[in-house]
Amino acid sequence: MQKKLEQLKSYREKIEAGGGKTRIDKQHEAGKKTARERIDLLLEPGSFVEINTFAGNEDISNLEHPGEGVVTGYGTVNGQKIFVFAQDFTVTGGSLGKIHAAKISKVLDLATKTGAPVIGFNDSGGARIQEGIDALDGYGQILYRNTIASGVIPQISVIMGPCAGGAVYSPALTDFIIMVKDIGRMFITGPQVIKAVTGAEVSMEDLGGALTHNQISGVAHFIVESEEACVILLSKLLSYLPSNNLEEPPQYDSREPVGNQEELLNIVPEEPHLSYDVRRVIELIVDAGELLEVQALYAPNAVVGFARFDGRTAGIVANQPTYLAGCLDINASSKIARFVRFCDCFNIPVVTLMDVPGYLPGFAQEYGGIIRHGAKILYAYSEATVPKITVILRKAYGGAYIAMGSSSLRADAIFAWPTAEVAVMGPEGAVNIIYYNEISKSENPQETREKLEAEYRAKFANPYISCAKGYVDDVIDPRQTRYKIIASLKAFSNKRETRPQKKHGNITL
Ligand code: HXC
Repeated sequence: MQKKLEQLKSYREKIEAGGGKTRIDKQHEAGKKTARERIDLLLEPGSFVEINTFAGNEDISNLEHPGEGVVTGYGTVNGQKIFVFAQDFTVTGGSLGKIHAAKISKVLDLATKTGAPVIGFNDSGGARIQEGIDALDGYGQILYRNTIASGVIPQISVIMGPCAGGAVYSPALTDFIIMVKDIGRMFITGPQVIKAVTGAEVSMEDLGGALTHNQISGVAHFIVESEEACVILLSKLLSYLPSNNLEEPPQYDSREPVGNQEELLNIVPEEPHLSYDVRRVIELIVDAGELLEVQALYAPNAVVGFARFDGRTAGIVANQPTYLAGCLDINASSKIARFVRFCDCFNIPVVTLMDVPGYLPGFAQEYGGIIRHGAKILYAYSEATVPKITVILRKAYGGAYIAMGSSSLRADAIFAWPTAEVAVMGPEGAVNIIYYNEISKSENPQETREKLEAEYRAKFANPYISCAKGYVDDVIDPRQTRYKIIASLKAFSNKRETRPQKKHGNITL
């Protein structure tokens, strides 16, 4: 036995050495950890169980691709079981061949079967060129499984190296993409090909760096400074999520909100054209002031993220008046709709803070398809059967009012602050249309317009008409917001709502 154990030890060492010292040194010099170091950093010590360790490595004395360029298995994070794979760039650039793909596929199958989140560390040169069509099919096998697992288990992709060509589509199919600054890159076509085809010189960072995908394309959801920061974020993100679609999110002890609730009385400015930072409202009403913002740099006119009320996870969706006055545009529509749908998949109630002047007007939006994209929010809120609680802070105008979790789309509770203005449109636009003749024929059009605007505001731009008509449940003191949300979340925690049987809906993609 002793001999056998020594043999096992030497075999393991060969596999664990990956692409060898020189390549590991190169990996470190590039500011990157190895696949095994990454798994060690993520999982609780001693919890990792590796699977398919020797897959594809029949001749241990002559290893061409130790571990086939990917380390796979399962372990725990904060006591929660998770499945993991980490591509090993030191082995043939982490390129994906048939067996590499089969290892990842097995992790996805096991995670889906047993209802546990899966985390993938991506660091790869893409399809292993020498394996041709087998490598492509390997990707196909993974993409199929990502799709089947979608909405069943949370899938999180971390980009810690190159992720090029069709390889980007596995992360794209997962729920969240975290990119590590300076080392994570995603692109369909790299700089060399772009230069060959167009002659243009582009930098890899500009083309597909972490900032590009967090700020401009909206492909990624989080940007982190380092691999260590990434693991902290992963653990935080997982803490909000259930392990699968049949479970509830984890329950924690309630934590007091930060700040003085009195501040809520002065956040919304008296002057309707002035803005304020809705994130401060969120900080003041959620447990310990903690919001894990998702896609924080993309479409900043909407804020989405995870927080807790009385220890329970909620998805927060809010308009952000500091950017584009909080209007809904194409990007914000996609951001909100995708987030609401994620929450609905995983039994996470949605709390909406509304202050929206409308959908953003203009050629760019119309030509870009705001009708099609804006409809996604309507679809996502209508489709969602998790508890939906909406608080109207200020503006609630037109179609955007309907979209942002209105009672029409089956909000379970809808409250308004006394500052709320619920109307078909704002006073300026409204009087110009309905009193056009009166204003243009009057002796002093400006004065007439101001008088009519004030009348309109008093008559329509307040929460009481919508409350009287039953579209809003109650007008509340802003200091009661947290209490009302907590009480409603408790009341609706057993909500059951069914939909007609269908294969799937046809969301306006
Ligand atoms: C086989 C590969 C490889 C690949 C890298 N290597 N990519 N081997 N297939 N796709 C090997 C290199 O030969 C090298 O081997 C080692 O990995 C490290 O690569 P380097 O080029 O030395 O590293 P670096 O300079 O850091 O550059 C990394 C890189 C570059 C930017 C990723 O290697 C590159 O551009 N690779 C090709 C990317 C690509 O176009 N892939 C195909 C995408 S199409 P040695 O032995 O020297 O260490 C695709 C289709 C998927 O993936 C379809 C899904 C639907």
